[in-house]
Amino acid sequence: MKNLKKTDREIASLIVAERKRQEETLMMIPSENIASKSVEEAVGSCLGNKYAEGYAFRRYYQGQEFVDQVETIAIERAKKLFGVPFVNVQPYSGSPANTAVYFALIKPGDTIMGLSLAHGGHLTHGASVSLSGSYFKSVSYGLDKNGIIDYKEVERLALLEKPKVIVAGVTAYPPLVNWKKFGEIADKVGAYLLADISHLSGLIASGVYPSPVPYVHIIMTTTHKTLRGPRGAMLMVTEKGLKKDPDLGKKINKAVFPGLQGGPHINSIAGIAVALKEASSAKYKKYAQQIINNAKKLGEVLKKNGFTLVSGGTDSHLLLVDLSNKGVIGNLAAEALEAANITLNRNAVPFDANPPFYPSGMRLGTPGITSRGMKEKEMEKIGTWITEVVEDVARIKKEMGVEFAGEKQSSVRKEIIAKSKKIKEVKKMVIALCKKFPIKDQY
Ligand SMILES: Cc1ncc(COP(=O)(O)O)c(C=O)c1O
Repeated sequence: MKNLKKTDREIASLIVAERKRQEETLMMIPSENIASKSVEEAVGSCLGNKYAEGYAFRRYYQGQEFVDQVETIAIERAKKLFGVPFVNVQPYSGSPANTAVYFALIKPGDTIMGLSLAHGGHLTHGASVSLSGSYFKSVSYGLDKNGIIDYKEVERLALLEKPKVIVAGVTAYPPLVNWKKFGEIADKVGAYLLADISHLSGLIASGVYPSPVPYVHIIMTTTHKTLRGPRGAMLMVTEKGLKKDPDLGKKINKAVFPGLQGGPHINSIAGIAVALKEASSAKYKKYAQQIINNAKKLGEVLKKNGFTLVSGGTDSHLLLVDLSNKGVIGNLAAEALEAANITLNRNAVPFDANPPFYPSGMRLGTPGITSRGMKEKEMEKIGTWITEVVEDVARIKKEMGVEFAGEKQSSVRKEIIAKSKKIKEVKKMVIALCKKFPIKDQY
């Protein structure tokens, strides 16, 4: 940062402030993580200066000697790590990558099917506010009363609606996804099956979560979540995918460029290559297992303290908590915890009685805090602090006689949070814990 500090103090000081915020905060938004300095250096390198439209050894500009090698290395590492025959590392991020799959395979008006946003799917799985739900006919499946994907309903809907693409993918779903079942359903109706493993790819790469590779045709993953790489995404085609459609790889490549994107971000692709190397190590495998161990432990503590966990617990990196019995909405819980330096997000729970902007739940995960080296012992503390903060603001809210209409107002929530001594106490303890587990340059 020595140059930036000299030339642009305004931006440099914001980066310094954000770094301090990350240092002193428990990063518990499940889609976030802390990439290594090596990844950061690759992303911040001169590779960002290079235009490289096209694919390795088939570009539209000169000067590709080194970037061709970077992209090829990234592809080969991903193929090896995930056990797939085809990879595209160019998507700018997860949303364009999913859109590229649709662009490759279907026409506007064709039917796609995915997990509803309200039950833990992503916007790009067919939500009406997204391109995926407005350019295509979108059919959504959901969870059953126990918070598990209703596979019978998935099958019934698939047989009825005959979607051309089925998306098996989750953003707020703690249990295992049954890839095999999805594969059987897709095969029955002749649909392409896309597994969106954005949240899970780090766990899958290290074998601590089941891989969809044998059962699906295409896989999309972002690279900045459990995989702990830079912002970006990858599209992979499996052997099963090539068997269904030998041109699938070509179609995906064409859809990404020139279909949807221009020049690839070669600096991000270099960061992806670095992250894939890191994710191939024995150390990373231990890290991935610890993410799950930590999430399970945290779930146990919260459950013991009277929280309701959607689907009863977790098999992955995240927890979805229904706060209804605690007497607060997700907004108040998330903002109170933010004031205590614990960042997570408010989230709808399945069959939520509240509107999406004021949902009944919160979603939290362990990839970021596990990257700092925290283990079960720290989860005990964090679970206790989360309980204390949520229960304290619930108590203050009750004493103030605030109902749902008041809780929806940001100024009222601020007033409740300002009254809590507990939040200030917890914040001090969180900062002390963060100091014991500083963000490292390497893992
Ligand atoms: C399952 C899933 N798919 C796609 C995306 C979109 O990724 P991006 O935000 O990089 O566009 C996300 C992001 O959270 C996600 O969780």
